[in-house]
Amino acid sequence: MFEATKFNIILNGKTNIKPILGNLYDGITSHNFDVITANPPFIPVPDGYEFPIAGGGGVDGLKVINDILEGIPLFLNEGGTAIICGEAIGNNKTPFLVSSINKYLPSNFKVNLFLHHQIDICKLASNMVKICNNITNIDSKFKYYETWNEFYKGLNCTHYYVFSLIAIKTNIPHTVIDIINENESQLELNYIPVCSLKYTSSVEQVIKIEFENGRYTLIDNSLYKLLELIDGVHNIYWVIDKFLSMNMLYDKDNLYNAQIEVLNMIKMLKDKGFIQIIK
Ligand SMILES: C[S@@+](CC[C@H](N)C(=O)[O-])C[C@H]1O[C@@H](n2cnc3c(N)ncnc32)[C@H](O)[C@@H]1O
Repeated sequence: MFEATKFNIILNGKTNIKPILGNLYDGITSHNFDVITANPPFIPVPDGYEFPIAGGGGVDGLKVINDILEGIPLFLNEGGTAIICGEAIGNNKTPFLVSSINKYLPSNFKVNLFLHHQIDICKLASNMVKICNNITNIDSKFKYYETWNEFYKGLNCTHYYVFSLIAIKTNIPHTVIDIINENESQLELNYIPVCSLKYTSSVEQVIKIEFENGRYTLIDNSLYKLLELIDGVHNIYWVIDKFLSMNMLYDKDNLYNAQIEVLNMIKMLKDKGFIQIIK
């Protein structure tokens, strides 16, 4: 891995990077970092079980992550940012990692924890079976779903998360960790989208739309047709269905993909604040 790092530096033509090989903060003398970033090993593995160093994160998956968190207050400058990307077990609301953050990062850290993806723990168990079936010299019991399922049951976890943690060292206290669960912002087909168009005008193929909140934007004909269908009465499923039946261009052999495409258009309109969603 160290050789790969050196190779990457040369490949990218960088001359101002000094790679250091060590166990986390060992061998690092400066305590003045503006950025600390890590993609540590995070896979929970049963005690006494040899797992490749790149992936195994101890029994709860937090072994290396905890050591990184512990060093952040010491090594990061005020105003500096720590970014950790990884995966972690938890319950249906949050990863257990939240307790580690509370334990190791003092209140002068402004913490945002993004939960990008959330899967049921049995999906992780079947993924582990697939991974272990590709590793030679492994205890054969780890090739079975039941082994992993029992192991996770013992850890009281029900879900597995893909996360990014962004922690900024400030000089004021912060009382809460902001948890941004991107899974909760997923659109359900029975939600009702609402749009309040005030005014439209068009110049050639481009349409200018203005909303009741004063915002305006330029959109193409297809997006405009979609916005027109958002009447605050019908749900997302209806809007998608109606839009596709009006739109002759979509690939009828791949209806699912076409539906996802329209759902993404609705999501984009929501993210830009052009429509609201009633659950
Ligand atoms: C999930 S992988 C990161 C892979 C990396 N993002 C990449 O694209 O190559 C975790 C990495 O952490 C390294 N690692 C594990 N334990 C470590 C430790 N105690 N100190 C330093 N590095 C460690 C592993 O060698 C592995 O390269």
